[in-house]
Amino acid sequence: MYRTHTCGCLRAEHINQQVTLAGWVQKIRNLGAMTFIDLRDRYGITQIVVEEHSPAEVRETASRLGREWVIQVTGTVIERESKNAKMPTGDIEVSASGIAVLNEAQTPPFTIEENSDGGDDLRMKYRYLDLRRPPLQRNMILRHKMAQEIRRFLSDEGFLEIETPYLVGSTPEGARDFVVPSRMNPNQFYALPQSPQTLKQLLMVAGYDRYFQIVRCFRDEDLRADRQPEFTQIDCEMSFVEQEDIIDVFERWAKHMFRTVLGIDFAEPLRRMPWIEAMEKYGSDKPDLRFGMAFAELTDLAKGHGFNVFDDAEYITGFAATGCASYTRKQIDALTEYVKRPQVGAKGLIWIRVEAGGAVKSSVDKFFTPDEVRALADRCGAQTGDMVFILCGKKFKTLTQLCALRLEVAQQLGLRDPKKFAPLWVVDFPMFEWDEETQRWYAMHHPFTSPKPEDVQYLESDPGRVRANAYDFVCNGTEIGGGSIRIHDAKLQAQIFKCLGFTPERAQEQFGFLMNAFKFGAPPHGGLAFGFDRLCSLFGGSESIRDYIAFPKNNAGRDVMLDAPSYLDPSQLDELYLALRKPEA
Ligand code: AMO
Repeated sequence: MYRTHTCGCLRAEHINQQVTLAGWVQKIRNLGAMTFIDLRDRYGITQIVVEEHSPAEVRETASRLGREWVIQVTGTVIERESKNAKMPTGDIEVSASGIAVLNEAQTPPFTIEENSDGGDDLRMKYRYLDLRRPPLQRNMILRHKMAQEIRRFLSDEGFLEIETPYLVGSTPEGARDFVVPSRMNPNQFYALPQSPQTLKQLLMVAGYDRYFQIVRCFRDEDLRADRQPEFTQIDCEMSFVEQEDIIDVFERWAKHMFRTVLGIDFAEPLRRMPWIEAMEKYGSDKPDLRFGMAFAELTDLAKGHGFNVFDDAEYITGFAATGCASYTRKQIDALTEYVKRPQVGAKGLIWIRVEAGGAVKSSVDKFFTPDEVRALADRCGAQTGDMVFILCGKKFKTLTQLCALRLEVAQQLGLRDPKKFAPLWVVDFPMFEWDEETQRWYAMHHPFTSPKPEDVQYLESDPGRVRANAYDFVCNGTEIGGGSIRIHDAKLQAQIFKCLGFTPERAQEQFGFLMNAFKFGAPPHGGLAFGFDRLCSLFGGSESIRDYIAFPKNNAGRDVMLDAPSYLDPSQLDELYLALRKPEA
């Protein structure tokens, strides 16, 4: 037996017991007469003490130990002289009677402790060492616990966990596919699924009316803190349901997760917000509702006062930044610079200060009477001590820019508390969005999403007006999940493909398998998928999903530990009938 106990479990009640522990040497403190060793495993740290009266070979071994050596220690649990209330095992230590070196270790490239001295790149390269650190171990444990809760809940609700293949054909879902060449079918490629979307719909045709899967998805897209090229979805689909049924099950599921994992109870139904309200009030389809500062449209009040910037704008909107009237010129300038950055793209920032006694002062006082300025501030709900910030321009562009400013101000005010949770459903998404660059409509969710029946009449004449039976689960400014009621009628599906610019031939070529399946009795169905990595990082209170993925990729999509992607041996390329071309500079 390598161990009788773990390094996290010994307490005062174990005093005088003979125990054997195994783990990694985190720290050695040699105080002459005594040597203290912090022995670590994933359960905790136990202090080992080697004393003057310890056997000679134990003292000799202890003097040779280095950081991260793997050792086995046998000894007696004794009461610590100076107890450490911060450590669960802080009341005791183990007086060693035997130390066996199970494996020596090179000195690690960074400290493997609660806080490491290693930079990001180094820790990614030695991810297995970083994963030994308690914070990452806590993250992996949280992820495990959440996966178990998800399976338990969904299984109890009658969902079947069914796996779908990773080597599939391409199903366009907005991002680029990762592709895999087929040796047995020269010049042909599989695509890795961006999600099991069409497969889960086929499972509905096959009669598995409640399906789920915790499944890896692959998307070749630009990476951000909340995006990885391979990520995990909690993917679900149900038959004989409407939007309400799906929201009912998954709202109960979400509340179950908050309760069992975080001990947070949401008694009230979660808020539902139509997409257009989310855009107009918060400038985003994933509004952060941990704090207020909602926008108010000012177009009617602000135009026609001789201020060209307003007069030429399509849309004018603002919000009251709570308690920011005291912002200095320098702070306002910094925020102006912030909105003018290319990532935000505004031309300038207009402000109104609401001072004590209700007096208003603004950057546009030349064009407005104090009463007119007051009316703008009132429309934004500004109180004494607030500062109103206003942007203008094209409607949705302006709203998005103001969203960036709202989040920045909230960050500065410390309102984006990771321990606070404000979940909601965003509903009534538009079916299509127009892309200026390619001059065509795109499906806002995906091409299998059904339009609202009352809007089908506008499919040909006014596609921008058609709303979808689509919904997103949003929390703290992040899209955690999304889904829709699907089209189960081959004719309507063909009509949507047409709106999206697919010729009947191309639609048949790409989605023939689905449209043909729908001819064999497709039930009404719908579903959704949650980003599991995002859910873990939300629950764990971190911005980056990388912290919750054992072996993530870096921002360039590389696995620096495995040094992947990498070049293939020419013989492998030959076998695949592939020739390479150098990228143009
Ligand atoms: P969607 O594309 O909205 O829907 O994805 C669902 C959820 O997956 C997460 N997500 C990601 N997480 C990490 N890295 C990424 N690159 C990434 N991309 C998406 C998000 C998102 O909300 N098939 C549909 C679902 C459906 O209609 O049932 C789909 O994939 O949290």
